[in-house]
Amino acid sequence: MSAPTPTDMLGRYSQALEDFLLHDDEAGLLRAYELGREAVARERGLLNFVDMHRQLVEHMDAQTPSLPPGREDRSLRFLSESLAAFALLHMRDQEANAALRQMNDLLENEARRCARALHDQAATMLAVIYLDLADLSRESRDSTQSDRIARIVAQIDRLREQLRRLSHELHPPMLDQLGLVPALRSLAEGLARNTGLSIALNASPDLHPSATLATVAYRVVHEALNNIVQHARAHNVEVRLWLRNDRLHCAVQDDGAGFDLAQRRRRIPTDGLGLIGMRERVRALQGRMDLWSMPGCGTIVRFSLPRAQPAGPA
Ligand SMILES: Nc1ncnc2c1ncn2[C@@H]1O[C@H](COP(=O)(O)OP(=O)(O)OP(=O)(O)O)[C@@H](O)[C@H]1O
Ligand SMILES: [Mg+2]
Repeated sequence: MSAPTPTDMLGRYSQALEDFLLHDDEAGLLRAYELGREAVARERGLLNFVDMHRQLVEHMDAQTPSLPPGREDRSLRFLSESLAAFALLHMRDQEANAALRQMNDLLENEARRCARALHDQAATMLAVIYLDLADLSRESRDSTQSDRIARIVAQIDRLREQLRRLSHELHPPMLDQLGLVPALRSLAEGLARNTGLSIALNASPDLHPSATLATVAYRVVHEALNNIVQHARAHNVEVRLWLRNDRLHCAVQDDGAGFDLAQRRRRIPTDGLGLIGMRERVRALQGRMDLWSMPGCGTIVRFSLPRAQPAGPA
C-alpha cells in the first residue's frame, strides 16, 4: 500500500521533490509548478519558499546520500519551475505599477491643462469685466454708485486671487519652471503664512530629480502637509530631502497630536484618501513609503523613490 499524500505544503513539496529527483519527468515539473502557484495563492513569501526548498535539500542530503547523480541540477530545475508563479506575480505587479504610472501621468497632464485654462481664460474674462467696470465708474456721477463699483472691484480682486491659487494648486507652474525644491519652498511659505506653522525645508543641493519624480515627490509632500494642517495641531514641521544609494529620500515630520496607527489600520479604509493616494503614487514609481506616528508624539512620513525609472510604454 502506498503512503498517504501529505496534506501540508512542506510535506507535499518534499514528496514531489523526492519523486522528481528519482524520476526526472514532466509530471514532476508540473507538480512543482502547481505547488508554486499554491504558495503564491496563499501569499507565501518568495524568500520563505526558497528557504523551505533549501532546508529540504539539506535534509535529503543528510538522510539519503544515495540519491542519483545530477540531483543538484534536478533540484534546481524543480525549484525554478515552482518559482514560475512567483515570476508571473512579479510581472503582474510591474504591469499594475506601469498602469498606475500611466494613470498618474494622464491625471497630471489633465491637471496641468485645467490649471492653464483656469488661469488664462479666467484672466481674460476678468480683464474684460475690469475694463467695463472702469468705464462705468468713469461715467458715473453718483458717489453711491461709484462706491458700489469699488466694492465689486474688490470682490473680483478676491475672486481672481482665489482662482490663481486654485490654478497653482492644480498644477504649480513653479514645478515645471524652477523644479522641486523652489516649488516646495513656495508651498511651505504659503502654508506657513496662512496657518502660522513654522515649516523648515532642508534639501541637499544635488537632488536633480526627473520631472516625474519631482511631480510625485511634490504631490506626496503636499498631501502630508495638508494632513498636518488638517489633523496635527502642530507648531513645527520639517521637510527633508536627500539622495542616498541613487534614491531620492524625503521625510516630513511634525510635532503635533499624532495618531494611533494600529487603530487606524483596523478601521475600514473609507474615511480618507490622502494616505492611500500617497502610497499609490510612491508605489507606481517602485518606491516605498513608511509612516510613523504615536498619539502625543507627532508624525513622520518617509518615502524614497529610485532615481532610475523603468522605461515607459512604447
Ligand atoms: N500628520 C498627521 N497628524 C495627525 N493625524 C494624521 C496626520 N496624518 C494623517 N493623520 C490621520 O490619518 C488619517 C488619514 O489621513 P488621510 O490623509 O488618509 O485622510 P484624511 O486626511 O482624513 O482625508 P482626505 O485626505 O481624504 O481629505 C487622518 O484622518 C488623521 O486621523
Ligand atoms: Mg488627508
